[in-house]
Amino acid sequence: MAPTTPRGGRRPNLGIVGGTGAVGRVVLQVLPMRRHVWGAVSVAAASEDVGHVVRVGDEDLTVAPVGPDFFDDLDVAIFDIPPGIAGEWVEHAAARGIVCIDNSTVFRTASDVPLVVPEVNPHKVGDRPRGIIANPGATVMTMIDVLAVLHGGWELQSLVVTTFQAASGLGRAGIARLHDELDVIHGDRELGTRPGDVRRLVEHELGVASPFPAPLALNIIPFVGHHVGAGWTSEETKVRDETRKILDLPDLPVSATCVRVPVVSTHSVTVHATFGRRIDVAQARQALVEAPGVVVLDDPDEPEFPTPNDVVGADPRFVGRLRQGEDAPTTLDLFICGDNLRKGAALNMLQTAELVAADL
Ligand SMILES: NC(=O)c1ccc[n+]([C@@H]2O[C@H](COP(=O)([O-])OP(=O)(O)OC[C@H]3O[C@@H](n4cnc5c(N)ncnc54)[C@H](OP(=O)(O)O)[C@@H]3O)[C@@H](O)[C@H]2O)c1
Repeated sequence: MAPTTPRGGRRPNLGIVGGTGAVGRVVLQVLPMRRHVWGAVSVAAASEDVGHVVRVGDEDLTVAPVGPDFFDDLDVAIFDIPPGIAGEWVEHAAARGIVCIDNSTVFRTASDVPLVVPEVNPHKVGDRPRGIIANPGATVMTMIDVLAVLHGGWELQSLVVTTFQAASGLGRAGIARLHDELDVIHGDRELGTRPGDVRRLVEHELGVASPFPAPLALNIIPFVGHHVGAGWTSEETKVRDETRKILDLPDLPVSATCVRVPVVSTHSVTVHATFGRRIDVAQARQALVEAPGVVVLDDPDEPEFPTPNDVVGADPRFVGRLRQGEDAPTTLDLFICGDNLRKGAALNMLQTAELVAADL
């Protein structure tokens, strides 16, 4: 029997599907501080981890298989599973009246599924005709609340962004591959001095099968996702489409170049934004200082700026390198870092689930 709320109502039961993956594990880490919202909590995964015990605060939970039985007695379910299977299980649970929050790409651009960031568009939680809410991709999450603040003050007109995306954006497989490559190159100080030397070594030692389309250790990869036509990758069109949907700016020009970098976790983004009005750098900085969930680290004289490794594991988005071209008074350039597994995925899902719980 689930515990009751101070109002005497039953607290909703929460299910976490994919609780053993890169994002799911962070959901379980973040959950204890927010546990009071929920009645029973249960965790499911694929066969590999079924039967394992995972710890949530002081509770031990046995991982169940994903199947129809798992959804009995749930009120809200969070899905952190691959897109290839998410659609089927989300539809199944939603048909049973469970409010579903899905982190895959399957529903993000559907017109009848809201794409929610609690700091930006919390009201969209109640507008869920299919009982499904989509969680934005971690790349967009890195910059979206900063953009919302700036748009609120100065009316965003266009965006040019370059992303620097961590290996964990491809889940446990991405993290494992980066570490495997680092193990293989360890100690060889000649590597990186001859064309293709890292590629030859890692392919010889690890084989060619990799979640990444090129070696990531001692390298960067300017291709994230798959080709969707005219030279754009799926990640780049996601950045455009999800930004437009969340900010409710369907015609916003967005040009993204997405790059994978040898960082374990925390995505970074450079932003060149153009606004409808003149924007003053000091005023923009102050607006970001006052924004919830945003930390400004920006002093070029120190110098102070965010780096992914310095902020990994933290909840806020960290902003630095604010500046403006001398001849471009309606533009702003900046750099943002945000942990793709925390606010980029797990935390945003739990915050959204809490809005749902308050609304049930
Ligand atoms: N990583 C990120 O930064 C990020 C950010 C935003 C969105 N996402 C999205 O979030 C989802 C999860 O990503 P992730 O990075 O956590 O992936 P991951 O590390 O590969 O974990 C995948 C999870 O899904 C489970 N799973 C795999 N196949 C399954 C199946 N056939 N049936 C049931 N469960 C299955 C796995 O269970 P086992 O442990 O038993 O294999 C594991 O718990 C994906 O849709 C991804 O696109 C990821």
